[in-house]
Order: sequence, then C-alpha cells, then structure tokens
Amino acid sequence: MTGAIRHILLTASSLLLLVWVGSASAQTIVGSQHDLTVGGNAQGSTNNTDEVCVFCHTPHGSDIAAPVPLWNKVLGAPGSYTQYSTLQTPTFDSTEAPVGSVSLACLSCHDGTQAMDVVLNSPGSGGYNAAGNQIDQVAIGNMVGTPVPMLGTDLTNDHPVSMQYGGGGATAADPPGAFAGTLGDPDFRAPIRADVNGNPVWWVDSPVGTALTRESTDMILYARPDLGAVQPFVECGSCHDPHNSASQGPTSVAFLRINNTASQICTTCHTK
Ligand code: HEC
Ligand code: HEC
Ligand code: HEC
Ligand code: HEC
Repeated sequence: MTGAIRHILLTASSLLLLVWVGSASAQTIVGSQHDLTVGGNAQGSTNNTDEVCVFCHTPHGSDIAAPVPLWNKVLGAPGSYTQYSTLQTPTFDSTEAPVGSVSLACLSCHDGTQAMDVVLNSPGSGGYNAAGNQIDQVAIGNMVGTPVPMLGTDLTNDHPVSMQYGGGGATAADPPGAFAGTLGDPDFRAPIRADVNGNPVWWVDSPVGTALTRESTDMILYARPDLGAVQPFVECGSCHDPHNSASQGPTSVAFLRINNTASQICTTCHTK
C-alpha cells in the first residue's frame, strides 16, 4: 500500500468514526450545546480539555451554596435576580423564595454574568481555586444573546422559577403517593411524592413513561425549606434536563424533559 492510499483510507475511517460517535451519543451531552469541549458550540468551545463534564461538575470541592450535584461553578447571589412576581400579574398565586436550587446552577451560565468556563476545580492535579479559574480565556466568554439563550438577571420575562408548586398546599407532612389535599390554585395536577433516604421528592407525572414512578421524562419538582415546611418548587430543571440533548418535537429545542407536542409540557402541570 502506498503512503498516499493508506492516508486516504485512514482519513476515511476516522471520518466514519466521527460520524459513528456523533450519532451514537445524540441524546447525551457529548457534541451537544452543553459540550464546551472542541465541537463547535455556538458560544465557543475549547481545546484545553476534553472533559465534557468539568464545565458543570467536579468530583471534589463542589459549590454547596445550593443543592445541586457536585457543582463546579461559583453560584450567583440569590438576591441578584429580579423575580417574576415583581411583574405583578394579577393571577400569580405561588409564593416565591429567592432564586435557588438547580435554577441557580443553570443561571451560572445562562444569566451572562460570568464566563461559562469559570470552574472551581480545573482539570488536573492542583486545579482547585475557590475564586474560580477560567479553562480557556480566549475561546470561551460570557453567554450572549438576549432574551434567550442568555436570560440575564431580570427573570420577569421568563416562566417563573423558584416558586411553590400550584399555589402551595403540598408539604413533606403528606403521605407518599399522589397529593390528595387541595392545592392553593386548583388549576394544577396533583404532585406525586416519594421518599429517598428519608428526604421527600416530588414530581408531576407526564404522559411519557410509567405512572407513579419518578423518571427524567416527568416534570421534576424540587424540595425546598425556604417557606417553612419543606415543599415542592418549580425550577429550571422541572421542564429541562440539561443532559438530554435530543431535539424535541415541533419546537426542536434541546434539553427539554419531553417534547412539547400539543403543549404537553405545559398541560402536565397546568389543567388548562
Ligand atoms: C451544562 C452543565 C452540565 C454538564 C456539562 C453536565 N451536567 Fe450533570 N447536571 C447538571 C445539572 C444542572 C444537574 C442537576 C439537575 C437537576 O437537579 O435536575 C446535573 C445532575 C447530574 C447528575 C445527578 C442527576 C441525575 O441525572 O442522575 C449526574 C449523575 C450528572 N449530572 C452527571 C453528569 C456527567 C457524568 C456529565 C458529563 C458526561 C454531566 N453530568 C455533565 C448539569 C450538567
Ligand atoms: C412543573 C410544572 C409547570 C409546568 C411544566 C409549566 N408550568 Fe406554568 N406555572 C407553574 C406554576 C406552579 C406557576 C405559578 C402558579 C400560578 O400562578 O398559577 C406557573 C405560572 C405560569 C404562568 C403565570 C401565571 C400568572 O398568573 O402570572 C403562565 C402564563 C404559565 N405558567 C404558563 C405555562 C406554559 C405556557 C407552560 C408550558 C411552556 C407552563 N406554564 C409549564 C407550573 C408549571
Ligand atoms: C456551562 C454553561 C452552561 C450551564 C451551566 C447551562 N447551560 Fe444551557 N446552554 C449553554 C450553552 C453554551 C448553550 C448554547 C447557547 C447557544 O446556542 O447560543 C446552552 C443552551 C441551552 C438550551 C437551548 C437548547 C436549544 O436547542 O436551543 C437550553 C434549553 C438550556 N441550555 C437549558 C439549560 C438549563 C435548564 C440549565 C440548567 C439545568 C443549563 N442550560 C445550564 C451553557 C450552559
Ligand atoms: C415551565 C417550564 C420551563 C421552565 C421552568 C423553564 N423553561 Fe426554558 N424552556 C421551556 C420550553 C417549553 C422551551 C422551548 C420554547 C420554544 O419552543 O421556543 C424552553 C426554552 C429554553 C431555552 C432555549 C430558547 C431558545 O430559543 O433557544 C433556554 C436557553 C432555556 N429554556 C433556559 C431555561 C432556564 C435557564 C430556566 C430557568 C431559569 C428555564 N429555561 C426554565 C420551558 C421551561
């Protein structure tokens, strides 16, 4: 085999490999808009690391200012956001808490206030810095593009987050299973409650998957103690799964828990 032919064959097989890797991982983070390693993220991507998880998670030294798993970024100050209730729509009837939980984690990139590659624990030995280090100052900056994908710190033009579910009513004192009491706003479907490690977890069953089982295709509610009794809250992660990059349904938006055909995301929670 001549060098030139071998080169062509090698190039052809590595192209095939690239195609294969691309399609095999279409549902996951790799190659998605949440993959900031080299791969063409519209908002910049870096050659400095091929660790796709490190932009969000670290195995050690994570930020615990909000209950987000092993979070590798400095979380914003809860008080730095303008919340939905300040718009004073006459019908809003869920009490808010300061922006927190998983919403704070999403906003650590999506509010545009810090570079998306500022991490607490950079890849490699001795990479920890409590103030955060940038993985690639040249290639990656703050998120741009308002009002989406860069939501900013004024959240009044976004679906509310960090508020109790359905006008309140469900709390950790309820028995497991579907909520049998009365929600503060009756136009909502009953949340389901279970316990894991003695901690309450809640969700609203979507039409996808198995009823009465908590799955990533359900609308996940987040337990928060801010209003006294621990109770279910709506956060960014209620509607979005940051790992599922499948382009969903008619809107072709990635990172939705289910596709929004016939607005089934909305009608999972709202009885409308
Ligand atoms: C763009 C940010 C981002 C990236 C990149 C990312 N994650 Fe996550 N991950 C999150 C957020 C946010 C949560 C919390 C989700 C929630 O609470 O609903 C989470 C939760 C998790 C959880 C716990 C919940 C679950 O689904 O089991 C695991 C495990 C996890 N991530 C693993 C990974 C791994 C492994 C990678 C790399 C292959 C990765 N993540 C990359 C943002 C990210
Ligand atoms: C995880 C459950 C959940 C999902 C999914 C959901 N919502 Fe909501 N939504 C709520 C809660 C809770 C409130 C606050 C309670 C209220 O005001 O009725 C709310 C508030 C609203 C409001 C503001 C009400 C007001 O009075 O200002 C609108 C409008 C709305 N949702 C529309 C939608 C649409 C459209 C979708 C689908 C894209 C959707 N919601 C998906 C739970 C959800
Ligand atoms: C490490 C930074 C980072 C974090 C953390 C992050 N994102 Fe993103 N996200 C991005 C980037 C970059 C894009 C691509 C923006 C663009 O296309 O211009 C994106 C895009 C998206 C999109 C648009 C997908 C589409 O098809 O247009 C959604 C939805 C989204 N993110 C939701 C979330 C949610 C929800 C969270 C928290 C659970 C989160 N993101 C956390 C960086 C991040
Ligand atoms: C109640 C459900 C719900 C909540 C809560 C929610 N989103 Fe979304 N989000 C959606 C839906 C549905 C879409 C798709 C809209 C469309 O088709 O244009 C979307 C789209 C997006 C997009 C992509 C928009 C675009 O045009 O590219 C981003 C980014 C995003 N959401 C981030 C977030 C972040 C960050 C939070 C928390 C602060 C959040 N979302 C909270 C339902 C929600």
